[in-house]
This record gives sequence, C-alpha cells and structure tokens, in this order.
Amino acid sequence: MQVRAITYEAALFTDELYQRALLLLDPESSARIKRFYRREDACRTLIGRFLPRMLLHDRGVPLADMKFAATEAGKPFIASPGVDPPIAYNVSHDNGLVAMVSSTNSHNPPAFSVGVDVMKVRIPGRESFASFVETVGDQLTALEHRLISSAPSQDQGLERFFWMWTAKEAYTKALGLGLGFNFRRVEFDPVLDLFRVDGAVPKGWQLTKFKILHGTDPYQGVVAEFVGGDTTMVLSESSPHEWLAVLDATSFIQGAIQQLNS
Ligand SMILES: CC(C)(COP(=O)(O)OP(=O)(O)OC[C@H]1O[C@@H](n2cnc3c(N)ncnc32)[C@H](O)[C@@H]1OP(=O)(O)O)[C@@H](O)C(=O)NCCC(=O)NCCS
Repeated sequence: MQVRAITYEAALFTDELYQRALLLLDPESSARIKRFYRREDACRTLIGRFLPRMLLHDRGVPLADMKFAATEAGKPFIASPGVDPPIAYNVSHDNGLVAMVSSTNSHNPPAFSVGVDVMKVRIPGRESFASFVETVGDQLTALEHRLISSAPSQDQGLERFFWMWTAKEAYTKALGLGLGFNFRRVEFDPVLDLFRVDGAVPKGWQLTKFKILHGTDPYQGVVAEFVGGDTTMVLSESSPHEWLAVLDATSFIQGAIQQLNS
C-alpha cells in the first residue's frame, strides 16, 4: 500500500500551470473541473485526476491509453486494458491536501476494496466545538460521543473526532458506497484503535491512520483496505510511514506534465 499526498496552496499554483495541466486531461475530467466555481476546488480535483495517471505512467501506459470509469455508485477505477497486476486506488481531498492510496489489492474488482479519507483538523466556520459535534452527532455512536466528550482537552477531542470521521469515510469509500452508507453503523475507537461495523469487528480489514503537517496546518487521514483473512488490524499513526510520500502541487503537476508528454 502506498499513499501519495500533494500539498496545495492556491497562491503558488499559477493559472498558466492550471491551463497547461487541463489540456492533458480527457474531456470528461476537464469539463468537470471547469464547472467548479472556485479555482481551489477545480485545482484539487485536477490534482486528484493526475495522481492515478502517474500510476499508469509508471507502469508504462501512454497517456492516450489511460482509461478511467466509475461504478454505479460513482467510485472511480482504472479501465485501461492490460494493466497487470491491476492497480487499486482511491483519492481524497480537503483544503490544502490531495491524497491517493494505491495498492495491488485484488478484492472486489473493478474498483477494489480500498479507500482513503483526509481532513484538515479544525472546527469549520465560527462554530464552537460542541455545536460542531452536535451538527454531525447523529452520525456518531454512543461510544464515539463519550470518547469525544471525555477527551482530556478540546484539541484531543477534535483529534478523536477526525479519526472517527476519516475512518468512517475511508471504510465506506473502500466499499465504494461513499455517503450511501449510514455512518452510525461504523464505529471507530481511536483510543484503543478498535473498529466495528454493526457492533462487531469485521473480518479482513486493515485501517491505517496517518498525520500530515502542511505548514502549520495538521491533517489526519485513514486508509481502509480489505486484505482478507480473519483478523482486522488498525495501524497507529505513530508507526513508521515509509509508504507515504508528500510533494507540493506545483512540483507534482510540472513533473507530471513533463513525463506524460514525453
Ligand atoms: C465520494 C464521496 C464519498 C466523497 O466524500 P468526501 O469526503 O466529500 O470527498 P473526498 O475528497 O474524500 O473524496 C472525493 C473523491 O472520492 C472518489 N469517489 C467518488 N465517488 C466515490 C465512491 N462512491 N466511493 C469511493 N470513492 C469515490 C473520487 O475520486 C472523488 O474525487 P473527485 O470528486 O475529485 O472526482 C461522497 O461524495 C459520495 O458518497 N458520493 C457518492 C454519492 C453522491 O455522489 N452523492 C451526491 C449526490 S446527491
């Protein structure tokens, strides 16, 4: 399993680079990107489209042969013929970060059982922490509510909340269902690193927690992957991240344009 994370800062990402990058994408991707009202949203999606293209490039697939499709529920997958072993991937973006997990997971083709979610650790808008938790409260289990309210500090409560939320998202994205799955069915205890679905530990899953600091902004993320077998494992954020590579958006897109054109 590999995670590639791209840090994005609107002020550093030039219009010229954006326009050049757009020209390399397929008409569907470029139409979707151009529909965004805010340039930041367009750029995050643009970066998210380049990430899996670079996986195919690394496998020797020329740009013209790169094909993508999506399941009925919208989960994107690689549809280029002859990619062997197949590449499982999933993308997530939030604020100044775009992350992609990739692996050779072969469970449940064509979109495979791998999902990632990243989020900036902060209370959105001008809300208090309590009112923020209340707005999403019905998506949390009783245990999750207790773990947040009993945290030794608000910062730790916030961190606990984001582990729970990104675990729920990563798991449902791995299933390919996204928001079509009731988040309350998924419970994550980030203190003991225990993961349950419908009250029981599901078999064969691996959850990997990670943290990324972009400038002074902390991000938390979780990768969920169905790996098979009888056990489920949660890898803590303190275990070594040799599977994680972080690059800034300008360097990534400049390099990608050069390599995809060559
Ligand atoms: C996909 C979904 C989980 C996004 O979650 P999010 O936390 O807001 O966003 P993230 O940044 O983590 O993930 C977005 C990426 O997930 C991927 N994705 C899209 N649908 C997905 C799905 N069903 N399963 C897994 N991954 C999906 C895409 O790469 C997407 O990037 P893009 O929008 O730039 O193409 C959520 O929007 C969803 O459930 N969508 C399906 C249902 C839907 O479209 N509802 C809206 C209509 S009312």
